[in-house]
Amino acid sequence: MLGVNMVCITGFLLTLMNTQANQGCSETIKDRTLLTLTKRTINKSKATQTAYTRKILIKTSYPIVLSQPYKINNEGICRRVPKITCIVMVHTSLNHFERRRNLRKTFNSTYYSPNIIRVVFLLGLTHNSTLQTMIEYESLVHQDIVQGYFIDTYHNLTNKGVMGLKWITEHCKNAEFVAKIDDDVFMNFNKIFENLKFIKESRKYLVCNRINANSNPIQRGINDKWYVHRDEFKRLKFYPYTSCSGFAVFISIDLIPLLYKAALISPFFWVDDFYLFGILPAKIHGVVHYGINTHISLNHQITFNCVSKYGHKCDLLAGITDPDNNRTKIRIWG
Ligand SMILES: *[C@@H]1O[C@H](CO)[C@@H](O)[C@H](O)[C@H]1NC(C)=O
Ligand SMILES: *[C@@H]1O[C@H](CO)[C@@H](O)[C@H](O)[C@H]1NC(C)=O
Ligand SMILES: *[C@@H]1O[C@H](CO)[C@@H](O)[C@H](O)[C@H]1NC(C)=O
Ligand SMILES: *[C@@H]1O[C@H](CO)[C@@H](O)[C@H](O)[C@H]1NC(C)=O
Ligand SMILES: *[C@@H]1O[C@H](CO)[C@@H](O)[C@H](O)[C@H]1NC(C)=O
Repeated sequence: MLGVNMVCITGFLLTLMNTQANQGCSETIKDRTLLTLTKRTINKSKATQTAYTRKILIKTSYPIVLSQPYKINNEGICRRVPKITCIVMVHTSLNHFERRRNLRKTFNSTYYSPNIIRVVFLLGLTHNSTLQTMIEYESLVHQDIVQGYFIDTYHNLTNKGVMGLKWITEHCKNAEFVAKIDDDVFMNFNKIFENLKFIKESRKYLVCNRINANSNPIQRGINDKWYVHRDEFKRLKFYPYTSCSGFAVFISIDLIPLLYKAALISPFFWVDDFYLFGILPAKIHGVVHYGINTHISLNHQITFNCVSKYGHKCDLLAGITDPDNNRTKIRIWG
């Protein structure tokens, strides 16, 4: 019964997204996957159930964070001021204490006044209770951590990203724009506030290292870093939607709740960059992927050279660093 209702609701949302005319719920279920799910729910016979289980696992599991509470939630991150200029959501790993320390230095400065920066570090769960205790202590001290109910692994990064969308939708509506970064990324806020003013007035904007549709190969080798099973994006050689390199993406605030809603109807796909900045935007009418590829460095040596040479006048808005290299660390993080 529950299953059938869910299918109806999903079908209805899909209809809304496609802006088709109002139809009865049963008539809107056209998607083959959804039909499969309906069939399984109605026909309780064991044989049918086995036959369809695999498809259902692959095609209709949604990010688990959508239905989960938070393990740690610092609800006050965006409070006490009417307006935040930029909320930075950072994908970070549990044991990256030093990277978070370095990042906090760059967020805490009064240097950017009147611009206000706030940060939320996104984490998943660990089985290591010592580590969990350390995280809880860090959260008490800095009050900038949000932890969800999913194991913090590489293959769960999509859950982390969707949790960020959900959290900002719920708790940080007063931000003027959003930056999503990984915890090894240096942000040059001087340049960001100087050059990205337009994003505050823009609607449905993603500003990033843009990756065009049908240009980025889907990795099919079982040992590839971003391995995708042949049943997903079946027969495609390239990712079919325009997307972003996800390590540093600036997002207009109006887009956040729309992306979050799109996640409710977008089956889980583990490659988080493509899920968050390709699949979800493709479900929303009129999203712009604005490429600033020359102002985002994918190479830690380039980031280092630029920051050492020009300091805050470095023309990069953001760049990957080599976070474990002691020599470059000092120059970049101060
Ligand atoms: C339910 O499953 C049984 C056994 O596989 C099959 O004979 C029957 O036609 C199915 N009913 C429906 C409504 O699909
Ligand atoms: C941030 O700045 C405030 C006020 O200047 C200071 O009290 C605090 O220690 C700083 N925090 C960090 C993590 O540097
Ligand atoms: C648990 O985490 C702590 C802190 O990171 C680490 O020192 C320890 O080795 C971990 N224990 C296990 C069993 O992995
Ligand atoms: C993702 O998190 C869920 C929930 O904790 C867990 O069951 C699953 O094993 C995790 N996936 C991976 C690939 O680690
Ligand atoms: C980097 O610094 C850390 C502590 O500051 C030290 O433990 C580590 O050995 C250093 N690594 C290298 C390669 O110098």
